[in-house]
Amino acid sequence: MLATRLRRALENGALTLPETGIIAVFGARAGDDLSALPMERVQVIQPMRPDHDALAARGFETVVAPKGRFAAAIVCLPRARDAGRARIAAAAAQTDGTVIVDGQKSDGVDAMLRACRKRAAVAEPVVKGHGKLFALAAAQAELADWAAAPVTLPEGFVTCPGVFSADGIDPGSALLAAALPRELPARVADFGAGWGYLAAHALARDGVTQIDLVEADHDALDCARHNVTDCRARFRWADATAFKAEAPYDAILMNPPFHASRAPDPALGQAFIAAAARNLARDGVLWMVANRHLPYRAALDDTFAEIETVVAQGGYCLYRAARPAARRRHADRSRTQPDRIRSR
Ligand SMILES: C[S@@+](CC[C@H](N)C(=O)[O-])C[C@H]1O[C@@H](n2cnc3c(N)ncnc32)[C@H](O)[C@@H]1O
Repeated sequence: MLATRLRRALENGALTLPETGIIAVFGARAGDDLSALPMERVQVIQPMRPDHDALAARGFETVVAPKGRFAAAIVCLPRARDAGRARIAAAAAQTDGTVIVDGQKSDGVDAMLRACRKRAAVAEPVVKGHGKLFALAAAQAELADWAAAPVTLPEGFVTCPGVFSADGIDPGSALLAAALPRELPARVADFGAGWGYLAAHALARDGVTQIDLVEADHDALDCARHNVTDCRARFRWADATAFKAEAPYDAILMNPPFHASRAPDPALGQAFIAAAARNLARDGVLWMVANRHLPYRAALDDTFAEIETVVAQGGYCLYRAARPAARRRHADRSRTQPDRIRSR
């Protein structure tokens, strides 16, 4: 939708792009049509690894944090209000010309337009495709207090706007952390590690000699580096679904994401399960928590021979899955086996 609104704004003269200088695009996604922009002068700021890599592969200069000064900036609004404000403030801080904001109604573009009008001169928006695009005169000072500020949570964890569960510990992850055995095996990974909550709890168990935090969001991983300072931790900015460990893990912990954009996408969690099975040793174990309504049981059945529902509580299911290497031999049998549930 960005492309349609941008083209309309350029065609009807509501917007003109600078003839020289870099145009920053904050938060463009893998499939976004940026053909209205001069590719050789575009810098895309995208901390999510799959989107980052896809845009870089298309030929865009792609970075995880803005570099240099910009002649203009386009901010693609994320859903989280504070993350959107932080993106606009970051754009304003480094842009000499216009800052263009684009977003869907469902991502709160109307509220953001109202908020921007209170702070800066805002041009008449272009309205199309259930969203709006508007330009504001870069107003660094007026927007400075929207800049990303770290949030400190109970237990001293630090997060930042836009990362998963920025405002509090996820109840599903808390359930998984509480259920971990007193002792874990030596080589552990946390797939979709976020700002490091599960990894921090795993490191408090006996037996762990190494834990890899595999996370696609560079901003979340930066928070994790702050939260998990144990030298047994290693930080991997990677797409977990394509991740290949140098040696198999003895245990993988995860609370997999269930959407890459607004719409729920169980295929992402299913890809996490397949990646976990590929990266575990034959006697390795997966500990996974997920919302109860998500269709993960069949994916577990397809990739693990032994699956136990450790606890089903408060809308979450916590699974322990073992014997990934024997999955093909046992897949049919396990499908017919009743699930064992340990209730609390
Ligand atoms: C449900 S959150 C869990 C975060 C963290 N483990 C916790 O307990 O707070 C899922 C995490 O997966 C990350 N993620 C999403 N897609 C990913 C991918 N393809 N590869 C790796 N991580 C991904 C998200 O950024 C998010 O931090």
